[in-house]
Amino acid sequence: MSTGKFIVIEGMEGAGKSSAITAIENLLTQQGIEFVNTREPGGTPLAESLRDMVKSVDHQEKLTVETELLLMYASRSQLLANKILPALAKGLWVIGDRHDLSSRAYQGGGRGFDEKIMNTISDITLKGFKPDLTLYLDIDPHIGLSRAKARGDLDRIELEQMEFFIRVHQKYRELAAQDPSIVSVDASQTMAQVHQDIIEEVQQFMSTIEQA
Ligand code: TMP
Repeated sequence: MSTGKFIVIEGMEGAGKSSAITAIENLLTQQGIEFVNTREPGGTPLAESLRDMVKSVDHQEKLTVETELLLMYASRSQLLANKILPALAKGLWVIGDRHDLSSRAYQGGGRGFDEKIMNTISDITLKGFKPDLTLYLDIDPHIGLSRAKARGDLDRIELEQMEFFIRVHQKYRELAAQDPSIVSVDASQTMAQVHQDIIEEVQQFMSTIEQA
């Protein structure tokens, strides 16, 4: 049996990840491709507990940036072993709401962990595993944050200062420019246009698999 494919949607708060995921789900369903969804941090019972720890604003003590980094990768390790790899081995596709690129952007860019540290912890956790396709929804952080604020309660990370999100955004762009498996989509367009771009990218990806 052929193995499935791992498609990841990335982007900052307010970039429109959720509706982009729905557009991909609809396309895969039309094509008769079975899939599962994941989100990070989270996606397994234990990883969801780690997600709550990372997002909560109710801690009695400050969560250190080192703890935040390690919780992101602890969650990713649980998700990879218990959900992503078993699904791919069964031939299912996996649609991921965030993955390693988020850590590179938020902890690497936003918190300032250097590339060597990020590579080491990523290698320990993922052992070279990589998504087949990453769609990065690029949005100006001012626009994204104002959309996220309009949605309601902000989590611990969303309460960071704008300088933090500007660094995250810069790192996302820098990494997307370096890696051909990451496709940038202009998320400031109308939702219909963003969805059309996403569908075209996924169709293009599917045609490369068929030719392989
Ligand atoms: P969201 O999935 O609802 O957007 O929330 C996840 C939050 O966690 C978001 O602010 C981005 C942040 N995050 C990181 O800082 N590093 C990571 O590795 C991941 C997966 C998410």
